[in-house]
Amino acid sequence: MPILEKAGYNAFRIHATDVLIDLLTDSGTSAMSSNQWAGIMQGDESYAGSSSFFHFEASVKKITGMPLAIPTHQGRAAEKIIFTILGGKGKYFISNTLFDTTRANIEFSGAEGIDLLCEEGKHPTIPAPFKGNMDVEALRKTIKEKGAENIPMVMITITNNSGGGQPVSMQNIKDVRKVCTEYKIPLFIDACRFAENAYFIKLREAGYAQKSVLEIANEIFAYADGCTMSAKKDAFANIGGFLAMRDLDLAIRCRNLLIITEGFTTYGGLAGRDLEAIAIGLQEVLDENYLQYRIRSIEYLTNKLIAAGVPVMQPAGGHAVYIDAKEFLPHIPVHQYPGQALVCALYLEGGIRTVEIGSLMFGKYAIPEEGSDGERKLVPAQMELVRLAIPRRVYTQSHIDYVSEVIIDVFQKRNEISGLVITEETPMLRHFTARLQPVTAS
Ligand SMILES: Cc1ncc(COP(=O)(O)O)c(C=O)c1O
Repeated sequence: MPILEKAGYNAFRIHATDVLIDLLTDSGTSAMSSNQWAGIMQGDESYAGSSSFFHFEASVKKITGMPLAIPTHQGRAAEKIIFTILGGKGKYFISNTLFDTTRANIEFSGAEGIDLLCEEGKHPTIPAPFKGNMDVEALRKTIKEKGAENIPMVMITITNNSGGGQPVSMQNIKDVRKVCTEYKIPLFIDACRFAENAYFIKLREAGYAQKSVLEIANEIFAYADGCTMSAKKDAFANIGGFLAMRDLDLAIRCRNLLIITEGFTTYGGLAGRDLEAIAIGLQEVLDENYLQYRIRSIEYLTNKLIAAGVPVMQPAGGHAVYIDAKEFLPHIPVHQYPGQALVCALYLEGGIRTVEIGSLMFGKYAIPEEGSDGERKLVPAQMELVRLAIPRRVYTQSHIDYVSEVIIDVFQKRNEISGLVITEETPMLRHFTARLQPVTAS
């Protein structure tokens, strides 16, 4: 049976050995440095109080300035803990854009997630410097509508992964902080890609060109009460994450839950060696030569695609190139998942694995109205994107040239691509395991 058919037209179900260039995610797929591997060899595996924990804690503090660092095995474990404690029915969490696992953890607690992305962020092909910004006016309005007492946290995702890897400006973080202070709502940062965001601020925001990325990161975190982090991104680790915060009472509650679900407070679901890798990776990512190479390589692929007329998110984001599948495949309606159809076409053409960030990932079903035929209607996502996430320190320019050639080939024969229908799905995070088939086969 052909690989795609066997995988139910879902790239998550394809075996990695059947993939030539893997751009499914930049999460946990980085090449660790020789220093990180050396740190791994020196990991202290003591159950409690290991020296690796204290290296990790010092590294987190140096960047965030937050005194309380709680290790977790991934970013979503940090989310599970904080949203279990602060969430629940009747609560609202407001963000620029919540990542899929973040939203899922909020909803799993019974609470609701609200995305308030700025207007520029909603138009993939129109460039603007900070398309990850939150709409501050909408934030005020939503707080008044829902009641500050029902909003346990505002969360800014930097860079905004689900919104095209676009950065958030320091000014926007400051403005959101001001509103949060006014209404006494804690502000958290989803910090997975903090260094990439800080570097964009250095490049694009007035007054930051002469500041180091560390100084910029320090300032970002100074406006926040806490953060969640997946160390699988900007810490170059293959596994790991953390929660960091200033409020001791909240940290005690988080640690209690950590002990039940992850592990003791000084290892939280990780081995000592993983803590070493994170401690070292968090410092390596501040290297501005690396960040220049990183941001420039994403821009290189983006510009090649723009030159060939391929509709992509502009300007280039921090960790990935995003193709606007709605424009790429205008003949496929959103309920036939144009993004997923493009994911399959890229795999078929060149063995490139990518991911849909559109209505397969974020679409919901509207509850059928009384007296209707009972058929569920898809409420589509805001955008239909295909993300090509570039693992850190892994691929060379030749790999990227090959990727662009494949995309351009597929673009030239885009009219031959057909839509997909879902044949199997789960109620939450369905994109990971769903099965689909081409509409022509249904
Ligand atoms: C913005 C953002 N938040 C949270 C997460 C969750 O992190 P993890 O995969 O480590 O659970 C991710 C992962 O891709 C992410 O991109």
